[in-house]
Amino acid sequence: MGECRVCNAPLELFLSFGRMPLADRFVEPDRVADEYLYDLAVGACPACWMVQLVDVPPPEVVFPPDYPYRSSASQRMRDHFAAIASRLRRLARHSRDPFVVEIGCNDGAMLRTLARAGVRHLGVDPAAGAASTAHEYGVDVLEAFFDEEVAARVRDERGPADVVYAANTLCHIADLHGALRAIDGLLDDEGILVFEDPYLADIVTATAFDQFYDEHVYYFSLAAVGRMLEPCALEVFDVEHLDVHGGELRCYVGRKGRRPVSEAVRRTLAAEQVSRLVDLDGLYDFSRRVDAVRRQLRELLEELHAAGRRVVGYGATAKSATVTNACGIGPELVEFVCDSTPEKQGKLTPGAHIPVRPPEAFADPYPDYALLFAWNHAAEIRRKEHDFEAGGGRWVLYIPEVAISPP
Ligand code: TMP
Ligand code: ZN
Repeated sequence: MGECRVCNAPLELFLSFGRMPLADRFVEPDRVADEYLYDLAVGACPACWMVQLVDVPPPEVVFPPDYPYRSSASQRMRDHFAAIASRLRRLARHSRDPFVVEIGCNDGAMLRTLARAGVRHLGVDPAAGAASTAHEYGVDVLEAFFDEEVAARVRDERGPADVVYAANTLCHIADLHGALRAIDGLLDDEGILVFEDPYLADIVTATAFDQFYDEHVYYFSLAAVGRMLEPCALEVFDVEHLDVHGGELRCYVGRKGRRPVSEAVRRTLAAEQVSRLVDLDGLYDFSRRVDAVRRQLRELLEELHAAGRRVVGYGATAKSATVTNACGIGPELVEFVCDSTPEKQGKLTPGAHIPVRPPEAFADPYPDYALLFAWNHAAEIRRKEHDFEAGGGRWVLYIPEVAISPP
């Protein structure tokens, strides 16, 4: 069944998708036979309430040097990271020569702003391709998985960090206690850890089952985050709810008792109790809604296919690997997926083997329906693709429920 990686209690399994491919492993058309598969199952810990994957593939397999995801792929996220960069600078003001470390800096979407401002910084990321783009933007990058040894080396060579930042990275690290010990060792006494990851409350509310895939090992609630920080005597002193990546929780963490704990922290913890986030019945109820959405989406696509309608996918997101593989959606139902990431184009989507084409293919000619896999970028995409809708095209949505828009 599996044990909680945070507190070792037996996990309660509430969601299971069967064998799945790696969500960001796009396949060369002549290499479909070599796909890595693993069991995607999600458990909750009834002792510390950490929701987590039961089995995870090794990090070297999930994040190879040619990992294709780019944080800067949308205007929305570029703006988001520029804004948090300024915020982190202000947070590090107490230091005479602030030093900011980002774990999982990817293509430097955040650190490029600090590099431009001349702030002392370091990005740590194992993905060589993304790191080399960061480097072109003047970002100082160490190509490595962040662990205690790397953190100790960074501290020895550059001194303690005033701010450690991790966006969509901490929830990727299976050895959470190791990562937290590494952060603890790297942070200055007055230092602050800021991390942001998909928020369990948003996943449950929106039935966003596509957030479950190999890279997301943990699905944080504030209740579980508090418990996971205890061994390092760290605590969350402030939180923000972010409207990116389908809803995220950003936590501001410092050494215990060092700063006043904000009202937002107390409010968020209370709301989690009320919304049955830390409640097995609530999670089983969520699981039944997931099954219904999976069935309805597949049925809708089969109906459109039977009616001779052309459907293409929009955004070859990591999340879409769960949707296509969990719902049984292949190239017979979705002709191709368009995506702006050059590293994904010309390949096939993981497991489902739907061809990935550049964005220009979308209008050549427009399909009848577009399945919006990149639903977290809906506003940006629908603005950009207004000609599609103006010409009678319609979006197929499945978050928070299966729908066609305009109806
Ligand atoms: P994300 O949801 O993990 O940020 O991934 C979004 C994916 O969608 C990424 O592969 C880039 C792609 N994308 C497009 O192809 N066109 C767009 O307009 C946007 C915003 C994203
Ligand atoms: Zn636990």
